[in-house]
Amino acid sequence: MSQRVFSPAAIIVAAGSGERLGADQPKALVELAGIPLIVRAVRGMIQSRTARTVVVTAPASHVRDFTTLIADAVGPNPPVEISVVSGGSTRQESVLAGLRALPPGTTHVLVHDAARCTTPPSQISRVHAALKSGSQAVIPALAVTDTIKTVTASDGDESAQVTGTLDRSKLRAVQTPQGFEVEVLRRAHDADQVGGDATDDAALVEALGIRVDVVTGSQRAMKITTPDDLVRAELLLGEGQERDLAPIVPQTGIAVDVHPVNTGSDAPLCVAGLTWPEKPGLSGHSDGDVVAHAICDAVLSAAGLGDLGAHFGTSAPEYAGASGERFLRETAQLVRAEGFQIGNVAVQLIGPFPRLGDRRMEAQQVLSQALDAPVFLTATTTDGLGFVGRGDGLAALATALVYPTSS
Ligand code: CTP
Ligand code: MG
Repeated sequence: MSQRVFSPAAIIVAAGSGERLGADQPKALVELAGIPLIVRAVRGMIQSRTARTVVVTAPASHVRDFTTLIADAVGPNPPVEISVVSGGSTRQESVLAGLRALPPGTTHVLVHDAARCTTPPSQISRVHAALKSGSQAVIPALAVTDTIKTVTASDGDESAQVTGTLDRSKLRAVQTPQGFEVEVLRRAHDADQVGGDATDDAALVEALGIRVDVVTGSQRAMKITTPDDLVRAELLLGEGQERDLAPIVPQTGIAVDVHPVNTGSDAPLCVAGLTWPEKPGLSGHSDGDVVAHAICDAVLSAAGLGDLGAHFGTSAPEYAGASGERFLRETAQLVRAEGFQIGNVAVQLIGPFPRLGDRRMEAQQVLSQALDAPVFLTATTTDGLGFVGRGDGLAALATALVYPTSS
């Protein structure tokens, strides 16, 4: 291995026409679940944090299209340098075109098929790690599970007859990216002992008698060749996405609200979204529903959006006498507009009255409906202690859980 600083680049070959896929555009432009194969392949390479430079080989007629598409997909400051060059009429020629476009100082190269655009970044990392630890050539491969037989005829010939059975334990299905010391791959191409049509870079290197190491491949690094493969890849992608999803980090909030009994009015008590006849009402700019207000404050607190006062102004005339339900609805709208979903709220009414009793479920339903999220309501007294115990007012304590839906 050369003494130069380890400096790997990647070549993504994407110049094929995709004859077997049969689309009306080059295969790498075909979309898999809405994203072109080449964009997926480039993103995967970037995510692997392995190569500093990525050279994409495109069909000569589409270099400009590829360049624009990739630039749009990766944004203005991609963490790697990306260039698009014209590929050749065979895969081997396309690899050679990529090799020629590598920046000076590149010591190692990962040659990857755009057609294997669902390759997990961890697989790219394994190949990269083997190069870093001294491999001159390394390929990802999977053990085969089918028994493989040799037959008399080539592809699609119905009348083929079996000529032998191979020892499966020694067979591997080979994938990409394949990693090489740049000089080794250049020499292999110069020697070209395969005849210009190698579909596997390692085969050229093997022909030079250089050791090729093997790291574990992945089912998800499948090659998209036929329309059926596209369907399979989409299924794989769905499963993979479930596994790879970044964890959702929920956020909690807490709030307390207190309102004094309104001694100067006969208005009935409005609390927990219900009216309680014959209980003394609470005073406040709005209807004084401590339960609803504590819920709103807890939800806003969880979303990091301040509190009720900040949004609904305690002196704003439009909220004079406003119901707890209205605050709940508007709070829910606000946090959803900020990109949060409400998980649930737990709220506790603190006071000697009203007795929730049979109306607990009714109150929970009203509160949950207004917030459009589950609200769990409980109640406690303070055993006669404090302002609540004396019946001077009511309090409520709420916690809320929200989680971001976009980030
Ligand atoms: N490839 C390339 N240049 C070519 C031929 C192929 O860069 N002249 C690339 C393809 O774009 C693909 C990879 O090599 O990413 C593997 O080739 P394959 O899956 O065979 O793709 P196509 O050649 O496009 O498909 P087909 O053989 O069905 O035409
Ligand atoms: Mg091909």
